[in-house]
Amino acid sequence: MLSVKGSRIALVCSSLIFATSAGYNVWAHGNVTPQAVDTSKLPDIKPDNKTWLTKNPYRDDPKVYAIAQKIGESAYGGNCARCHGLEAISGGIAPDLRYLDKGEAGDEWYIQRFQHGSSRDGKVYMPPMGEALGQKAGWAIRSWLDTKHEE
Ligand code: HEC
Repeated sequence: MLSVKGSRIALVCSSLIFATSAGYNVWAHGNVTPQAVDTSKLPDIKPDNKTWLTKNPYRDDPKVYAIAQKIGESAYGGNCARCHGLEAISGGIAPDLRYLDKGEAGDEWYIQRFQHGSSRDGKVYMPPMGEALGQKAGWAIRSWLDTKHEE
């Protein structure tokens, strides 16, 4: 049985960030407020923006791709940088997204993580972003990450 003192300590701890064996942090819920992303300049994703694709639909058209990269840059800054680092250069608390596989090969893994985040054993490593930000923002960020890619 936990003493009163013990449970108080547990409460304090639950608001801290725990390092894990993977070296990444587990985040207490409630500390991530999604920043809305204006994607109105991007074409809708057929049929309804809600059927999740496994390939970046903005990469094929250079004009659209450029717009997506611009929107993605600021969307990344508002929603991802605090964990994945400014300019996608990780400070070590979350994976470095410059090394995601290029092109279609990396799209599926990327969007899966974007949509669902990552949780194991009831701990949230990355909060899900799909619902809050939407698919258009997801592919915009992916388009910008393409510009940061490194082997
Ligand atoms: C609260 C911190 C946090 C935020 C905010 C966050 N992530 Fe993550 N992300 C993580 C962690 C930690 C992992 C590693 C998860 C694991 O080990 O299972 C991760 C993993 C990923 C991966 C898989 C990387 C790989 O190499 O396997 C992608 C892609 C990703 N995040 C994209 C994003 C994008 C895009 C955003 C912004 C929309 C974002 N993340 C916001 C913490 C975060």
